[in-house]
Amino acid sequence: MSKENFIKGLNEDLAAELGTVIRYNYQAGKSFGLLGIELREMFTSEITDELGHARFLTDVIIDLGGEPVTVPKAFDKPDKLKDMLELDLKMEEGDVKNYLKHSKEAEDLGFVELKMKLEEMAADEAGHARELRRLIKGL
Ligand SMILES: [Fe+2]
Ligand SMILES: [Fe+2]
Repeated sequence: MSKENFIKGLNEDLAAELGTVIRYNYQAGKSFGLLGIELREMFTSEITDELGHARFLTDVIIDLGGEPVTVPKAFDKPDKLKDMLELDLKMEEGDVKNYLKHSKEAEDLGFVELKMKLEEMAADEAGHARELRRLIKGL
C-alpha cells in the first residue's frame, strides 16, 4: 500500500461523507408525516456526525500531502421513506467496511492515530446503521 493509494482511499471516504451530509439534509426535507418527525430529528443529528468525519478527513488528507476532494458522491433519491432508509442502511454499512479497510492500511503505514480514528468512525457508522435498522423494523 503506497501513501498515494491510501490518500486516494481517504478521498473516496471524504466524497462519501460529503454526499451523506447532502443526502441526509435532502432526506430530512423529504420526510413527511408522523414518522417524518422522528426521521428529521435523526437526520439532523447525524449530519453533525458526518460533517465531523468530513472535517477530519479533509485535515488528514492535507496533512499527508494530498488534495482533498470537494465534490460529493452522487446518491439515489427514492420517494418512499422505507426505500430511503434502506438506501441509507446500505450506505452506512458500506462506510463501516471502508473505514475498517482504511484503518488496517493506516496501521500498515504506521499511522497509529489515524488507525484508531478510522476505527472510531467505523463505530460511528455502525451506530448509525443500528439506528436505521430500528427505524426500518417499525415500517
Ligand atoms: Fe460518516
Ligand atoms: Fe453515518
